[in-house]
Amino acid sequence: MAIQTNNLRRLLHTVEALSELGPALTAEREFSETSRLMLSAVMEAAGAREGALFLFSEKPAVLTSTTALGFALMPDPAFIPLLPKHVHALTAARGPIVLNSSTYSVFLSSNGNVAPELFKCLAPLKAGGRLAGVIGLGRRPGEALYEDSELDALELLCSYVALAVQNHALTQTIAQRVSENLRLMASLHGFYDNALEAFASAIDVKHVNIHGHSLRVGRYAAAIGDAMGMDPNEVASLRSAGYLHDIGKVAVDRRLFGKTSALDPDEFREMADHTTVGHQIVRSVTFPWPRIPETVRWHHERSDGSGYPDKLMQEEVPLSVRIIGVADSFDAMTTVRPYRAPLSIGSALSDLVRLAPEKFDPNVVQALLIQVRRDAVGSSRTPLLEGTSVNIAAADIDHLAATLQHKVSRGKIISI
Ligand SMILES: [Fe+2]
Repeated sequence: MAIQTNNLRRLLHTVEALSELGPALTAEREFSETSRLMLSAVMEAAGAREGALFLFSEKPAVLTSTTALGFALMPDPAFIPLLPKHVHALTAARGPIVLNSSTYSVFLSSNGNVAPELFKCLAPLKAGGRLAGVIGLGRRPGEALYEDSELDALELLCSYVALAVQNHALTQTIAQRVSENLRLMASLHGFYDNALEAFASAIDVKHVNIHGHSLRVGRYAAAIGDAMGMDPNEVASLRSAGYLHDIGKVAVDRRLFGKTSALDPDEFREMADHTTVGHQIVRSVTFPWPRIPETVRWHHERSDGSGYPDKLMQEEVPLSVRIIGVADSFDAMTTVRPYRAPLSIGSALSDLVRLAPEKFDPNVVQALLIQVRRDAVGSSRTPLLEGTSVNIAAADIDHLAATLQHKVSRGKIISI
C-alpha cells in the first residue's frame, strides 16, 4: 500500500512537472533560465536534491554544464571531456542510468573539472538518436537510491528536455554561422575597399593635377551619405563609387590634364568620353554594390539637363549619382587647375549653394555643409578635409545653409 501511495505521488509529481515544463519550454526566455526551470522540474519529479544539466558538443566531445542546483561545490561551468567510448555508451543507453563505482568510467571521464562520483544517476538527452546533453543527478534526501518509478518519470521528462536542448543547440549553430558569414562579408568589403583604393590611386597618377582626386571624392561622398543618414552598406557603396567614378580617364590623353587654355571641341569630347569609356570598363564587373556602373557613366549629369553624356533631367539622376556629382565638383573647385588657382572652401560651398537646385541636389549640398561645419568647429572625428585648412567660420556655413533652405522653400533661385 505504501509503495502504491509513493508511486501515485511520484506520478503526480511527474504530471505536475510536465505541466510546468510546457510553458517554460515555449516562453521567450534566456536559455540559462529555461535550463534552470527544466532541471528543477526534473529534480522534483525524480526526488533529487542535487542535479546538473550539461550540453553536449561534438568537436571536441565535451559535456558543459549550463545550470547546476543543490551541489555544495560545482564549478560554473563544469565540463567533462568525453572519449568516443563514453559518447557511444551514453548514446546507446536506453533511459536513465544508475551509476556505481564500476560504471562511472563507462559513461564519464575524470579529465574535467568535476568528479564523476558526484553523480548517482545520469539521464542522456537524445534528439533524433543523437546525444544533445546529459542530466546528472546527485544525492537524494537521506542518501536513498533512485528507484524504477523515478527513473521512468525521469525518462519521460528527459525526452522533452532533450528537444529543448537540441533546439537551443540549433539556434546557437545558426547564430554562429550567420556571424561567420557577416565576418566573411566584412572582410570581403575590406578587401574591396583596399583594392578599389589602389585603383583610385592608379587613376589619379595619370597627371599631377588630379593626384588624390578619386580618393577624396570617395571620402567626401561617403561623408555626405553618412550625414544623410544612409546605412553603412550604402556609405561603403558611395565610397567605392567615388573611387571609381573617373576610371575612364585612363583612356584620356595625359596632355589634356595639363593644358592651361580651354579645351577645343575635339579635346572636350575626348575628355567627356571618360564617362562612357569608364562605363564600358565597369559595366561587366560584378561589384558588391550595383550602383557603380551608373555612377561612372552619369557623374557629370546635372538636374537641369545640362550635363553629359545622356542629358538626364531631375529625378532621372539617381541620388547616389547626385552625391558623387557634388563630391566631384567640390574637389574640383578646391584643388588647383592648370588654368586657375584653387577656390577657398567658403567660395566652393557658396558656388554649390548658388547652383542648387538647378544643377546640384540641395539635400546633398546641405549634407556637405554639415560635414564641413564639423571640421570648422574641430569635431573630434577624422577631419573631412584632411590636410586642408578650413578657412570658413561655422557662422558662415550656417548662413549658407539658411540661404539654401530659403532657396528650396521658395522654389526659386536667389543670388547669394
Ligand atoms: Fe569625371
